[in-house]
Amino acid sequence: LNYNVNRERRYILEVLFNGLRRLEYRGYDSAGISIDSSFPSSLSNGSSSDSLPPLVFRQEGNIESLVKSVYQDVASTDLNLEESFLVHAGIAHTRWATHGEPAPRNSHPQTSGPGNEFVVVHNGVVTNYQVLKETLLRHGFNFESETDTEVIPKLAKFVFDKANEEGDQTVTFSQVVLEVMRHLEGAYALIFKSQHYPNELIACKRGSPLLLGVKEFNEDMSNGPSFQDVKLLTKSEQPKELFLSSDANAVVEHTKKVLVIEDGEVVHLKDGAVSILKFDQGKGKRSGGLARPASVQRALSVLEMEVEQINKGNYEHYMQKEIHEQPESLTTTMRGRLIRGGSCKAKTVLLGGLKDHLKTIRRSRRIVFIGCGTSYNAALAARPILEELSGIPVTMEIASDLLDRQGPIYREDTAVFVSQSGETADTLRALEYALENGALCVGITNTVGSAIARNTHCGVHINAGAEIGVASTKAYTSQIVVMAMLALAIGSDAISSQIRREAIIDGLFELPSKVREALKLDREMKDLAKLLMAEQSLLVFGRGYNYATALEGALKVKEVALMHSEGILAGEMKHGPLALVDENLPIFVIATHDVCFSKQQSVIQQLNARKGRLIVMCSRGDASSVNVGGSCRVIEVPQVEDCLQPVINIVPLQLLAYHLTVQRGYNVDQPRNLAKSVTTE
Ligand code: G6P
Repeated sequence: LNYNVNRERRYILEVLFNGLRRLEYRGYDSAGISIDSSFPSSLSNGSSSDSLPPLVFRQEGNIESLVKSVYQDVASTDLNLEESFLVHAGIAHTRWATHGEPAPRNSHPQTSGPGNEFVVVHNGVVTNYQVLKETLLRHGFNFESETDTEVIPKLAKFVFDKANEEGDQTVTFSQVVLEVMRHLEGAYALIFKSQHYPNELIACKRGSPLLLGVKEFNEDMSNGPSFQDVKLLTKSEQPKELFLSSDANAVVEHTKKVLVIEDGEVVHLKDGAVSILKFDQGKGKRSGGLARPASVQRALSVLEMEVEQINKGNYEHYMQKEIHEQPESLTTTMRGRLIRGGSCKAKTVLLGGLKDHLKTIRRSRRIVFIGCGTSYNAALAARPILEELSGIPVTMEIASDLLDRQGPIYREDTAVFVSQSGETADTLRALEYALENGALCVGITNTVGSAIARNTHCGVHINAGAEIGVASTKAYTSQIVVMAMLALAIGSDAISSQIRREAIIDGLFELPSKVREALKLDREMKDLAKLLMAEQSLLVFGRGYNYATALEGALKVKEVALMHSEGILAGEMKHGPLALVDENLPIFVIATHDVCFSKQQSVIQQLNARKGRLIVMCSRGDASSVNVGGSCRVIEVPQVEDCLQPVINIVPLQLLAYHLTVQRGYNVDQPRNLAKSVTTE
C-alpha cells in the first residue's frame, strides 16, 4: 500500500506478484489478488461515494498462472497498466488448500458477494465457520466456495449493513473488523479491503503470523535501520509504502523496518497513518455502538535478513542451494557461541538466550522435546547427547500427538519447542498447552520474532538464514548443532564430563569443513540417484545417534522425490522389516563409526544373508569392514565426534533426495501437497 508516491498500476501489480513469489513456498495450489479500479487518486476521505468496487483476480495453479491470467484480463479490459496512483491498497494470497479443492472459487481473496464490497485474504482456519455460514445463509447470503474463509467478508458486509441500517453512518473499518473478530474462532491472519473504505486496509491476527513493513521515503531517501515508534507513522504527508505479510521474505526487498503484529491486534492503515488497536475477547459485546478498544504503541524492529538470502544465486533450486550452504549456515549458527578457552581456561559454550534459565533447566525432572517433521527428527538426533551430558531423562513428543493424548506435562519439566519457522500450528498449540501446565518453555527456532520465539520463556535462535525450499535441510543441521550446544551448556558444571565436552567443542569447530568434504559426494549421489530413480521404495536403516538420520533421510526422499521411503531403527529389523528384504528392494544402511558400529555390521551381515540390495554409509577408511561384496555399494563420509555425526551423515541423503527429485522430474522446492510452514492444525 503506497501513500504520496506516484506508482503505476504495473508497479503495484509487480509488488504484489513478487510478494507472492516470495511466499510461494508456503502454499502453491492457487493464488489471487485484489487491486483498485480506477478512481480519483487524491487521498480519500473514506466516503464510499467516489470508490468503485475492488477488482478481484483468482487462479488455480501457481503464481505464474495468476500473473498470466491477470495480464490477459487487464489487456482485455480498459484497465490501464500505465495509470498511476498516489494511494493504492492491494492484497494478494497464495493458497495451500485446507477447505475445498484448489479452484478459482476457493482461492483468496474471498469476497462478500457480487460487487466485492469486502474482500479478504486469510492464513489459518476458522473452526466455527459452519455455524457462521448457517447464520449468514439465513440472512440471505449465497456462498460460492467450500472455504472456511468465505464467511469472513460476508460477516463484514453483514456488520457494515447492520450498522448502516441502525443509522450508524460513521462506522469505521476497524469497528467492522473488530466486530467480525468477535465471532471468529480458530487461527487466522487476515487482511481486509473494502469498497466502502477506499485507500484503507485492515489486518488482524490470532494464532497465525503477520508483520507490517514500513518503507519511508524521507529526505535522504535512505531506508537504513533506525528504531522508531509506530506513533511517528501518523505523519501522513510522509511518502511511504506499507506492507503486510505473513513472512518477512516478502517484505525484506522493500524495507527492513518491521513490526511483528501480536495476537488480538488490529492494524489499520489509512491515509499513510498506521494505528494499532488491541482486540480484547473478554470485553464481549458492545453496549451501544461498536467497540472502541485501546490503541497500542510499539517500536519498529529491524530485520537482520539480506535479500541475497532469499535468492537462488547460482543454484537451480533453493533446496540445492541450502544443502550446499551448510558449511556457512553452521558457522553462523555457532558464531560467538563457542569459546575456545585460553591457556588455563576450559573450552565452553555461551548461549545468551538461556543463561538466566540454565539453573532451572538443570533442576528439571525431565526435558521434553516437542516438534513436527524435520524439527522433531533434529531433536531426536540430539537426544542421546542431551541425556548423556545432562543426566536428565529426555522424552520426545510429536506436537500433534502430545495434544491428541493431552500427555502429562509438569511444572518441573523443561519443554523445548523446536521449529524452523517458529509458526507451526501444532507446535504452537503444544506450547500453549505446556505453558498452561507450568513447564519452563524453551524455543529453538530459525525465525526471530516468530510466535514460538515470542511466547517461550527463553530460547536459542539457530541463525541458519532464510530457508525457502519446502524440504528442510540447513535448518536441520543447525538445529542439531544448537541442541548439542544446549547439552554442553546444561552439562557445563560437571567436571566428570569436561574432556568429553571439550572433544565435542573441538568437533563443532571442525564441523563446517567436514560438511564441506561430505558435499563432495554430490556426484556420487547423483549417480546413485540415477540407479534408484525408477524404484518404488527405499528403506533407510540407522540406530543410536543415527536413528534420526534414517528417519530424516527417508523423510527427504518421501517429501521431494515422492518415493516411498521408510526410516527404520536397525534394532527393530528382526521384528518385522526383515520380511521385506529381497534382492530388489534398495536398502540404505548407516554404519558410521560409533558405539553401535559392531551391531550395524551384524545388521549388514543379516541383510546380506537375505540377498538384500545394500547401500552402506560408513566412516572413511571403514569400507572394507562393511563391504559385503556382490551388489553392495559403499559411501564413505568424514568422521567427526559421534554425537555430531548425524550432521555429516544427513548430507549424502539430502543430496540423494535432491537428485532423485530432479531425475524423476518433480518440483524440488514445492513438493506436491506440502507447505513449508503449516500454520493450520
Ligand atoms: C512442514 C514442513 C516440514 C517441517 C515441518 C515443521 O511439514 O513441510 O519441512 O519440518 O512443517 O516445521 P517447523 O517450521 O516447525 O520446523
